[in-house]
Amino acid sequence: MTYTKLRQVKIDLWLEKKDKEKEKYPKNKETIKLIILTLLLFCSVCSLFLILHFPFPTEFTASLPRTCHHNFTVYVYDLPNEFNIGLLQNCRHLNIYTNMCPHVSNNGLGQPLHRSGRTSWFATHQFIAEMIFHARVENHPCRTRNPHNADIFYVPFYGGLYASSVFREQNLTKRDELAVRLVDYISDQRWWRRSNGRDHFLAIGRTAWDFMRSSDTDFGANILMQMPRVMNMSVLTVERQPWKGDNHFGIPYPSYFHPYTSAEMVTWQNKVRRVERPNLFSFVGGPRKGLEKAAIRDELIRQCAGSSHCELLKCENGGSRCHDPMTVLGVMARSRFCLQAPGDSFTRRSTFDAILAGCIPVFFSPHTMYTQYLWYLPDDKRSYSVFMDEKNSTQIEQELLRISESEVVQMRDTVIDLIPRLTYAHPNATNYDLPDAVDVALEALAKQARAKVMVSL
Ligand SMILES: *[C@@H]1O[C@H](CO)[C@@H](O)[C@H](O)[C@H]1NC(C)=O
Ligand SMILES: *[C@@H]1O[C@H](CO)[C@@H](O)[C@H](O)[C@H]1NC(C)=O
Ligand SMILES: *[C@@H]1O[C@H](CO)[C@@H](O)[C@H](O)[C@H]1NC(C)=O
Ligand SMILES: *[C@@H]1O[C@H](CO)[C@@H](O)[C@H](O)[C@H]1NC(C)=O
Ligand SMILES: *[C@@H]1O[C@H](CO)[C@@H](O)[C@H](O)[C@H]1NC(C)=O
Repeated sequence: MTYTKLRQVKIDLWLEKKDKEKEKYPKNKETIKLIILTLLLFCSVCSLFLILHFPFPTEFTASLPRTCHHNFTVYVYDLPNEFNIGLLQNCRHLNIYTNMCPHVSNNGLGQPLHRSGRTSWFATHQFIAEMIFHARVENHPCRTRNPHNADIFYVPFYGGLYASSVFREQNLTKRDELAVRLVDYISDQRWWRRSNGRDHFLAIGRTAWDFMRSSDTDFGANILMQMPRVMNMSVLTVERQPWKGDNHFGIPYPSYFHPYTSAEMVTWQNKVRRVERPNLFSFVGGPRKGLEKAAIRDELIRQCAGSSHCELLKCENGGSRCHDPMTVLGVMARSRFCLQAPGDSFTRRSTFDAILAGCIPVFFSPHTMYTQYLWYLPDDKRSYSVFMDEKNSTQIEQELLRISESEVVQMRDTVIDLIPRLTYAHPNATNYDLPDAVDVALEALAKQARAKVMVSL
């Protein structure tokens, strides 16, 4: 773990301030200056702490039931437990790398970041969107119990948790077993047969690559998304296959904020709009060995480490600070731009953390965001992000410095306006009337289903 750079950056900034303030303080008052600067640093750390931790005022205490403002209804299949909540009994072994028990609690929000009282901040696992999605749809005001009048049909299979629990299974028949059984079960239902599954959808918290086995030696993947019946459904996933995934639709990775009320969301947006951002850019991540698409990471780490305008939070050997939500958000909230390099796959949860912190994302592959989350983003990429190809990524700092202050402010406003749509609101939210990630997805699916019905008429 290398955190020296982090400290160094702080000291650099500190020195910068010191230089500017040189005239104000005579040289013989070096000690006073140091004390003042220490206090300043302390205060800024404190204010960041307050910004990130301060419990939000609850303006409404009475809970209003949410009403369906949309012109659609969604039916939720009541699947046999083995396809979703039954899997959680085995939470220690749902992921070959981590014990998932703390992460599957609270409907998948994970452990609260504050011990006392109600909170909207959780240490949410990056691959858990399927559980949160499920909990949100179950409480959705547009949910119908009557499949006769449903526009769309949600199949709440925890396919990602299943996939990661059998990554090491060598027997491919066994590795695919539960996915195959799910598809047999669902395609046998009356409502499926009505439309060959066209109005049915899955929501999966892992990337499409985990469900598209390309060869027998492909590590871990099963065949769920390659089954012809599933190809007739819509599959919502945190990373779609950009070339073959016509029926894949990108949904956000969950970040750490799951507000109960719209007021909490608006308060947060105002906070990140006002926060001071001394760093031009930052990078949170580690190097990846032997992955071609991640080669850029070494370059980013090198450039960030070499720049006095960049804050680097380097994650190596599972560096724990990199997994501490408040540390990560703190780095991002101090930065104007956040570099988002591909990692094990094209997309990163970190992109959504950056947006939550009001930090403008910088992309190095179109598949990290642009070809993924089409339901969620403005058409004009330049309005909320910066794209760098191989040519201009050799001088990140210079390229970013070329963007004018007024452009930066405008882009940041667009980024901050995107936060509600990219957030998973608390499943038990009350007084929450902003469309969240699940609302946006359901609405898009319903529109799509209606278009399909029109075509077949
Ligand atoms: C709502 O949907 C129904 C049919 O599903 C349609 O007849 C009606 O025009 C729609 N209304 C609006 C406002 O879109
Ligand atoms: C939401 O409410 C239900 C019912 O009271 C409860 O079982 C569930 O744990 C709550 N979810 C969260 C994340 O608090
Ligand atoms: C793989 O698993 C299936 C189902 O459990 C079993 O029928 C088959 O014999 C196994 N194949 C091998 C090579 O072990
Ligand atoms: C997929 O849908 C089409 C059109 O509804 C249908 O003709 C086809 O048989 C379906 N495929 C499968 C595998 O169910
Ligand atoms: C980098 O180059 C790409 C393609 O040549 C261009 O679209 C992008 O705007 C450039 N980025 C910056 C920050 O200049």
